[in-house]
Amino acid sequence: MNSFSTPLSARLGLRYPLVAAPMFIISNKEMVVACAQAGILGSMPSLNCRTIEAFEEDLRWIRSKTDKPFAINVTIGLTDPARLAQDVDMCIKYDVPVMITSYGDPTGIVNKVHQHGMTVFHDVINLRHGRKAEAAGVNAIIGVSHGAGGHAGTLNPYVLIPWLREHLSVPIIAAGCISGGEQVAAALVLGAQLAYMGTRFIASTECGASDRYKQMVVDSTHDDVVYTNEVSGIHANFLKQTLPDAANPDRTPLGAKRWVDIWSAGQGVSQVRQVKPIEDIVQDIVREYHDAVARLSA
Ligand SMILES: Cc1cc2nc3c(=O)[nH]c(=O)nc-3n(C[C@H](O)[C@H](O)[C@H](O)COP(=O)(O)O)c2cc1C
Repeated sequence: MNSFSTPLSARLGLRYPLVAAPMFIISNKEMVVACAQAGILGSMPSLNCRTIEAFEEDLRWIRSKTDKPFAINVTIGLTDPARLAQDVDMCIKYDVPVMITSYGDPTGIVNKVHQHGMTVFHDVINLRHGRKAEAAGVNAIIGVSHGAGGHAGTLNPYVLIPWLREHLSVPIIAAGCISGGEQVAAALVLGAQLAYMGTRFIASTECGASDRYKQMVVDSTHDDVVYTNEVSGIHANFLKQTLPDAANPDRTPLGAKRWVDIWSAGQGVSQVRQVKPIEDIVQDIVREYHDAVARLSA
């Protein structure tokens, strides 16, 4: 299918300006390679590998399968500092093309990895954090809107993306509720240079989610998504049925293991209808994108 691009996707060498966003427990090396083969940027959190040795093995495996770009996510404030330093060094050793930093100040990582020519994306939910990340020297800023899977902000993408674009000089990446090609087109119209999609890829054959989790994403709509800070202390979106007290999500006891038993997904579940291989998901999105653009110009 016809490729399309933005300055940032062209610079990264992607066929399409799409990112399969990092997801704790769910993203794995198979996804990263499938995304590379499908022409988009795959990613995974370093913490999906329990040990630094397992992380090195994964990087070696990815490097043996593809020479296309991919990304590794480090969750700064949620990671033991010693492990974080090891993960960053390992990314340098394997010349990881893109690092995605979240939950903390990326300055130290930017300074270190820029010396090796690596690119850094940092995710934010508002302009205040965006300004700090820009000052830290990141190469692009991910604006995470309301309704996103995982930790999400409160701003509507119609406001957040143009607002970040207007006030920052680095490229903006749109995240939150982008599950299909129409939304990709909308994100690019708003000025984003990449569309960053998590929830849609939970329903991929390759990812590490259980079959029940994948099917729940397919069966759910936005009505099944609850925005709460009761699970992790930070506001995030979860599938209602997996919250320990589904009837009273506002009074959730912290018994169940978060992310493992309590499953996260964004409002974009409404547009996810089938579990498919990543190559097919990407081709669906690209077709939907081209159809949407053709409708606009008709
Ligand atoms: C199950 C799940 C786990 C996630 N884990 C992480 C993570 O470890 N690190 C991170 O930076 N973002 C994480 N996110 C957020 C995604 O990277 C991305 O911002 C989000 O999924 C985009 O919104 P969407 O799900 O509506 O497409 C997670 C999201 C989900 C759904």
